[in-house]
Parts: sequence; C-alpha cells; structure tokens
Amino acid sequence: MATDLATDLAPVLAVSNLSAGYGAAKILHGIDFTVARGEMLVVIGRNGVGKTTLIETICGLTTLQGGTITFNGQRIEKLPPFRRNRLGIGWVPQEREVFASLTVAENLGIVYRGGPWTTEALYGLFPRLAERRRSYARLLSGGEQQMLVIARALATDPTLLLLDEPVEGLAPLIVQEMIAAINRMRRESALTIIMVEQKHDIALANSDRCIVIDHGAVVHAAVSAELLADAALLERLIGVAE
Ligand SMILES: Nc1ncnc2c1ncn2[C@@H]1O[C@H](COP(=O)(O)OP(=O)(O)OP(=O)(O)O)[C@@H](O)[C@H]1O
Ligand SMILES: [Mg+2]
Repeated sequence: MATDLATDLAPVLAVSNLSAGYGAAKILHGIDFTVARGEMLVVIGRNGVGKTTLIETICGLTTLQGGTITFNGQRIEKLPPFRRNRLGIGWVPQEREVFASLTVAENLGIVYRGGPWTTEALYGLFPRLAERRRSYARLLSGGEQQMLVIARALATDPTLLLLDEPVEGLAPLIVQEMIAAINRMRRESALTIIMVEQKHDIALANSDRCIVIDHGAVVHAAVSAELLADAALLERLIGVAE
C-alpha cells in the first residue's frame, strides 16, 4: 500500500515545519510532508491558498521564514535555485514558458544533461512532439507547449519533478494524453513527482498520496484513493460541489 511505501523507504524529500512567503508576506505556515522514491504526491486546494508558493519554496524562489527541506538526506533550504536544480529537482512552472524562437528539437537538445531522457526517448513519451520536432515552439498549441516544457524538464534528468497544474486549461483529450504520459514516465524511471492540480478527481485517481492546503497550511494528508472515495470530506476540504 502507498502509505506503507511512504514510511518504509527513506524519503526523497522531507519538508518540516516550513514557513515561507514573499518578502515580509507570510504565505506558508508550518508545512510538513514527505515523499518517498517513485511516489507521486498531489497538492490540492482552492485558488490562492499557497500551492504554487510551496512548489516555488522547494525550488528556492521565495523567502524562507523557517523550517527545513531535506532532499536525499541533504538540507537544501538555504541553497540557491540552480544548486537545487543540479541536485536533481526539476520544475515545470504554472506559466508554460517554452523557448519560443527555437524549434521543438532545439528546446530539448539545449538542456539535455545526460540520463535516460534523450530527445528520442522524449518523442516516445510525447508522439505529438515528434511530429512537430521542426516547428518553432511559439507555433505549438497550448497542449503541445505544455508537453514540451515537461519534456524539457525531463531532459535535465531530475529525480524529483515538480509539476504546477500541468493540465490547467487543456482540452479533455489532451488532459488524458498528458496524464498517460505522466504515468508512463513514472513507470519507465524511478522519478518522484509532486503535482499541484486543481482537477482533484484526475489528480487523486492518478497519484499515491495527497496533501490538501488551505490558508498556507496542510489541513489534510491522505492516501489519494481514500480521499477520492470520501465525497463528503472532499466537499468540506475543497468545496467541490458546484
Ligand atoms: N510574487 C508574489 N508576491 C507576493 N505575494 C504573492 C506572490 N505570488 C503569490 N502571492 C500571494 O500568495 C498567496 C498564495 O498564492 P499561490 O500562487 O501560491 O496560490 P495557489 O494556491 O498556487 O493559487 P492558484 O490555484 O490560483 O494557482 C496569494 O495570496 C497570492 O496573492
Ligand atoms: Mg498556483
């Protein structure tokens, strides 16, 4: 069971009593969670509760106000963003920023750092990118651009991938393709994933564990399938009723 997995293995990432924000603004208050190797943790919660701030704090892009972040046994909360990235933390931000004036192939080749995710392997994961390999990134659809930023993050050979709302605003068919690709990338490597997602049903159905954020704090932590099955609790936590 996923919960046993989480406790049996040494965590890839352990966040402890983490508080952070932007300058003097305090957004996150005493966040605690761990993620085990190969696990997928989803972060859900209403708009503006601090999900992106949490991801950016793991990357080192906010103001740390307290607590620790341990990655593969090493304290990283004081390291600059590029050092965390070099240690194996990949990040796909909420805004999809491709290198607009480069082709798909150039976007991928320019960041490749060795490891399993060669451009050809990435084309296997995202056949649409293979079809469009010679297109300028600015000419891709929103879904294709999102595939490209995820592929580009993989090309940097991360062991922990942070995905911030990867299917936001995408057509249902593209959402399915994206989720299938995320599941496949997990199967084909030992990748650990933290995914922020507003579409809680898709997020919970495709992950091992979840944390729910409200007002910058973790208000619930659970096995994803258990929270998905508890409509009343979900409603109370994130108000899913229309
Ligand atoms: N650069 C910033 N400077 C100051 N405050 C910020 C900054 N970015 C976000 N905030 C504030 O931090 C709070 C949390 O924002 P955050 O973007 O983390 O929420 P979120 O849960 O990701 O929301 P969404 O679901 O809309 O993406 C909000 O009140 C927001 O206004
Ligand atoms: Mg956000």
